[in-house]
Amino acid sequence: MFKEEVSNRTNTNLAEKKVKEFVVENFKTAKLFEKYGIDYCCNGNRSLKDSLSGKSIEMNTFIPELEKILGENKNDDQVFSAMDLITLSQYIVNNHHKYVKEAIPLIEAHLDKVVNAHSKNHPELISIRQEFSILSAEMLTHMDKEEKILFPLIKYLVDSKKYNETPKSSGYGTVQNPIRKMEQEHQSAGNEMEKIRNYSDDYKLPEDACTTYTVTYKELEEFEKDLFKHIHLENNILFPKAIELENELLNLK
Ligand SMILES: [Fe+2]
Repeated sequence: MFKEEVSNRTNTNLAEKKVKEFVVENFKTAKLFEKYGIDYCCNGNRSLKDSLSGKSIEMNTFIPELEKILGENKNDDQVFSAMDLITLSQYIVNNHHKYVKEAIPLIEAHLDKVVNAHSKNHPELISIRQEFSILSAEMLTHMDKEEKILFPLIKYLVDSKKYNETPKSSGYGTVQNPIRKMEQEHQSAGNEMEKIRNYSDDYKLPEDACTTYTVTYKELEEFEKDLFKHIHLENNILFPKAIELENELLNLK
């Protein structure tokens, strides 16, 4: 009986916790949220309970899987949190940005093929293709801004600390301005990704799906996973640390 009470209390605590907090504390939980199509980035401020009820997922099914991951020792996020800001920015560029730049032309070519062959029976493919065009164009500009504006600005802050200097105001004002803009763009990309997920009925393949159709849906799901990781690493780790660093440096005045 006592054991049951403790378990119920633990479940209540978990249910009330924000989805993004799980991911910040343990990046491995991201996989589980992805498995159930729960957005832990743009809509990460929702409680676990609300996120599950929105998806009609049973708490009794979800919690044991979550607890299993929470019990595992290795925590990748600790590795990312321990990285200095320049290394983390480079990691994002070398892994996530590189992946997006390579994946976009491939997915677009596959989508074109699938639209040509199957859109008569599956008109939602046309909407997916259109949405992916919007998303990919936005992502390319977004990453360019991060690489040319925000990440150099973060590097400048790190260097200022290293040389014990107060950073001069850039043309963008405080680092919070470009960060706010990047967060808005993450939100927009997350919304577009969600539309694609909805059009595809959670990437459910129709019975007449050919190999390219199957591959394209898998690629889109992979693209979503990578996007969520990119957003998580920036919104939840890189950006708050950059703001904290700038505040620390400006207080030296
Ligand atoms: Fe980003």
